[in-house]
Amino acid sequence: MAPTLAGLPLAGLDDKPTVQPPVIVSTWDFGKDANEAALRVLETQGSALDAVESGVHVPENDPANQSVGYGGLPDRDGIVTLDACIMDHRGRAGSVSGLEHIRHPISVARRVMEKTPHVMLVGDGALQFALSEGFQKENLLTDKSKEAWEKWRVTSKYQPQINIENHDTIGMIVWDHKRQFAGACTTSGLAYKMHGRVGDSPIIGAGLYVDQAVGAATGTGLGEVVLRQCSAFLIVELMHNGKSPQKACEEAIRRIVLANANYRDFQVGFIAVNSKGQVGAYSIQPGFTYALYQNGKHQILPSKSYLV
Ligand code: GLY
Repeated sequence: MAPTLAGLPLAGLDDKPTVQPPVIVSTWDFGKDANEAALRVLETQGSALDAVESGVHVPENDPANQSVGYGGLPDRDGIVTLDACIMDHRGRAGSVSGLEHIRHPISVARRVMEKTPHVMLVGDGALQFALSEGFQKENLLTDKSKEAWEKWRVTSKYQPQINIENHDTIGMIVWDHKRQFAGACTTSGLAYKMHGRVGDSPIIGAGLYVDQAVGAATGTGLGEVVLRQCSAFLIVELMHNGKSPQKACEEAIRRIVLANANYRDFQVGFIAVNSKGQVGAYSIQPGFTYALYQNGKHQILPSKSYLV
């Protein structure tokens, strides 16, 4: 019998995995390099938690990636503020939001989880905590992102851009050799957002959720619509009630479509893994891709989408 939550049977799940671990899945094409880094950690006996942290360091470090970490596009005041959260198989969670000057917000989120009695730190408090933990303060605004912001300021038009350069949040799920889950989600958020805006990515249950008994889900895209639906938690609950990861992602997208008459104007994409190692992915618009390591092979795959 599969593990249960509060004695409830997990409909549709059984003890026999159909896929051998490990499984690693991340949002977007750039998730492939992140998955490769995560796999290297697993191959040297690292845990799923170590793997997701090291994996998402790759886009956090990449100045060419203008939606995650160093080089992320700034808010409308020209300030780079980062959001990230992490969750492990024990149900522990850590998060930072509106974090300035620190290249690896995911690692600060992990320290919040492991070293404080809290789940989430924001703004100056998150920065003070990071500095007290030995993280180095640096300028995250690259010349390229500054130039883009200066160009944007000419019109200052608020307009989410669909699949912009295939760049948005990285969400990553790892199911390791011990069949333990961990997840991470990290982003600089919506480009040119209001200072202080918080998206889905640092919010446990919106941008990321992990339940060792069931599976994990994370996503990318316009944070406001994901926040209103608690989508990652919804996907995991749908899997808990017997849906496959694919059907659970599809239902979460359907709910966003039903709740937003303007759904053609923005992108949201979800990925999920269940405790059989099965993977799902679904988005509103075509163009969402995800990187998958499964059965010993790295791939970049196009997601199915609601609109075709
Ligand atoms: N999904 C990233 C954001 O909306 O901030």
